[in-house]
Amino acid sequence: MDLALQGKSVLLTAASKGLGKASALEFAREGAIVTIASRDLAELQRAAAEIEAATGQKVTIIQADVTKETDVQKAVQAAVESGGGLDVLVTNAGGPPGGGFDNFDDQAWIRAFELNLLSVIRLIRESLPHMRAKGAGRIVNLTSSSIKQPIQGLILSNTYRAGVNALTKSLSIELAADNILVNTVAPGRIATDRVAELDAKKAQSKGVSVADVQAESIAQIPLGRYGVPEEFGKAVVFLGSYANTYITGQALLVDGGMVKAL
Ligand SMILES: NC(=O)c1ccc[n+]([C@@H]2O[C@H](COP(=O)([O-])OP(=O)(O)OC[C@H]3O[C@@H](n4cnc5c(N)ncnc54)[C@H](OP(=O)(O)O)[C@@H]3O)[C@@H](O)[C@H]2O)c1
Repeated sequence: MDLALQGKSVLLTAASKGLGKASALEFAREGAIVTIASRDLAELQRAAAEIEAATGQKVTIIQADVTKETDVQKAVQAAVESGGGLDVLVTNAGGPPGGGFDNFDDQAWIRAFELNLLSVIRLIRESLPHMRAKGAGRIVNLTSSSIKQPIQGLILSNTYRAGVNALTKSLSIELAADNILVNTVAPGRIATDRVAELDAKKAQSKGVSVADVQAESIAQIPLGRYGVPEEFGKAVVFLGSYANTYITGQALLVDGGMVKAL
């Protein structure tokens, strides 16, 4: 299938590692002009070199912290300059700290809001004029399976991902007239650094091995394993493509069947 992404300008944030990087790779494979943003320059350079080696496509990098408004503006500007406008935005950020309700004060709630919800709002606000100028756009917000089923011990994430899901649905209605399609892709357990870190912390707090923690998670996944980032990237690239002409306002779980909700 032709995903109609050849020459399209795509910005992905939090894309030097994990799910963001895997998604960037899939867009580059389709011939898109890819810009990736995150905080650590060396990681960005490594990711760009990896994607360029795999696809032959040049990747633009921009050092940006999505919690900072000026960095968000810088990131969008970089994509607009390198791609001649902006056709696709993939919003992503690092995960907030794990913990339950009693663990967090106002400052922690505000930081997580800035990282996981306000960043998405700002990125979209900054991108819309460029998409409207082109008469079309695709926005994919990366969230978590917690939008369907809260995850114990991740209350900050559970709360703000639900906000992103509500924002996605609301915007899909508001932006339909602009031919801008908005969706969210929600990972279950995809093997990345973040998941390895969470598993290691859980193992330490329970006094069990990491292998035990992984086995407990895998027991909840009908497909019987963690996903790999490439499997996630393939879902993102379709929803963010111009082959997608009629799916908007949806939340697609990439979770091996883990969430049992209808
Ligand atoms: N993997 C899963 O199965 C899973 C499941 C549910 C939810 N999620 C969520 O999906 C997101 C991505 O997860 P991942 O597994 O891909 O994590 P990861 O492998 O740890 O990668 C995180 C990426 O985000 C960047 N980043 C972190 N904070 C940032 C900031 N303030 N501004 C810009 N970039 C930032 C990191 O680069 P720098 O540190 O250099 O900025 C890195 O490129 C996270 O929010 C995570 O909680 C993942």
